[in-house]
Amino acid sequence: MHVSGTVRVPGDKSISHRALMLGALGSGDSRITGLLPSADVQSTASMLRALGVAMPDISPDVMVVAGVGLGGLRASAHDLDGGNSGTTTRLMAGVLAACPFASRVIGDASLSTRPMQRVSKPLTAMGARFEFENGDGLPMTVHGGALHGITWRSEHASAQVKSAILLAGLVANVPVEVHEPAFTRDHTERMLRGRGLDVRSEGTMVTFVPGRPLAAMDTAVPGDPSSATFFAALAALATSGEIALENVCTNPSRTGAFVVLDRMGVRLGWEDVRENGGEPVGTLVVAPRRVVGTVIEPREVPSLIDELPMLACVGARAVGETRVTGAAELRVKESDRIAAVVQNLRAIGAVAEELPDGFVVQGSDRPLAGRVVTHGDHRIAMAFGILGALPGNKIEIDDPDCVRVSYPEFWNDLARAIR
Ligand code: S3P
Repeated sequence: MHVSGTVRVPGDKSISHRALMLGALGSGDSRITGLLPSADVQSTASMLRALGVAMPDISPDVMVVAGVGLGGLRASAHDLDGGNSGTTTRLMAGVLAACPFASRVIGDASLSTRPMQRVSKPLTAMGARFEFENGDGLPMTVHGGALHGITWRSEHASAQVKSAILLAGLVANVPVEVHEPAFTRDHTERMLRGRGLDVRSEGTMVTFVPGRPLAAMDTAVPGDPSSATFFAALAALATSGEIALENVCTNPSRTGAFVVLDRMGVRLGWEDVRENGGEPVGTLVVAPRRVVGTVIEPREVPSLIDELPMLACVGARAVGETRVTGAAELRVKESDRIAAVVQNLRAIGAVAEELPDGFVVQGSDRPLAGRVVTHGDHRIAMAFGILGALPGNKIEIDDPDCVRVSYPEFWNDLARAIR
């Protein structure tokens, strides 16, 4: 199979959520360009609108968010719906914890099973009150109000937990200090610093010092490295050609999958790397080569957590074994991604085995065929969609439309890349 051309993947999901939230909380208008127009980002926009923020329909074109200021959010007349989006729900929990009203937060079937006490615990320690109707999941009611500062040692290497605490500190105007077991994506820190706030990072510790106003600021959202990984994998597994992925965020907290692909033998290089609005971006050029299995170490996991389904599928086409450990967090993503990856690899004829905190995949070049059950998980659909695009494979995806969560144009971009 020959691949060619340029793919401009859509805006980064993590940065899109944060750009909307910080735009809403700033004073004055913030212009956002390159926003990801997907269902998850729509969940954040709808939640902010319900809290009184005026904003147009989400769009990758210039979008103006009219900030209401740190104390400007108003109680919603109805439940706040996080949809399928963990980032919307957990980051907004931090914001809501500092607002002097109660908010009931709901979500779809997948989000409702995902753990929320990882954010309610630190936010409760800061002075908010949470009510759960269903164990650790949604619905939850956040009773917000005056908070006090906190030093929190997080059990989870989770940028969502870190960001919830930082946003609570920001809105409540109190100091916070977060220690994480491993370094996680630092977009919140970069964006707060870019807006003039005092946020300091040292290793796996981050502190927020209150006292400065949150300025409105324009944001150019770079392309999403998690979305780019699918096309990097496609190019890696093709027989000839090359794909250029333009304007991809190269923030080192997000690029672990490219480091792993490089180690697996893929020909991959960055061009035109530059700084864009506080984040490094560049063009990633990827071409096929013989791919060999690898060991993905626990310390690498936070930098490639969302890319593991795709890396598992690359492992299924590699020479030898690919092994991942230290990734138990995969069990509480949009689906149990350890089970979903292994069961689906087996369903299409590959050899794979679950570990409590990861998986082992045996590579082979025999044709893969069968039906993939996505459990509504966008990254499962796209990872197996790439395998299905390879000649000789015949893979049916049960719910191809679930890609709308992070990459609505995925199937069109895939068709163009292999034309
Ligand atoms: C995200 C953090 C990660 C990631 C998710 C987006 C973010 O989740 O998996 O897709 O934007 O902060 P965790 O914080 O739960 O690891």
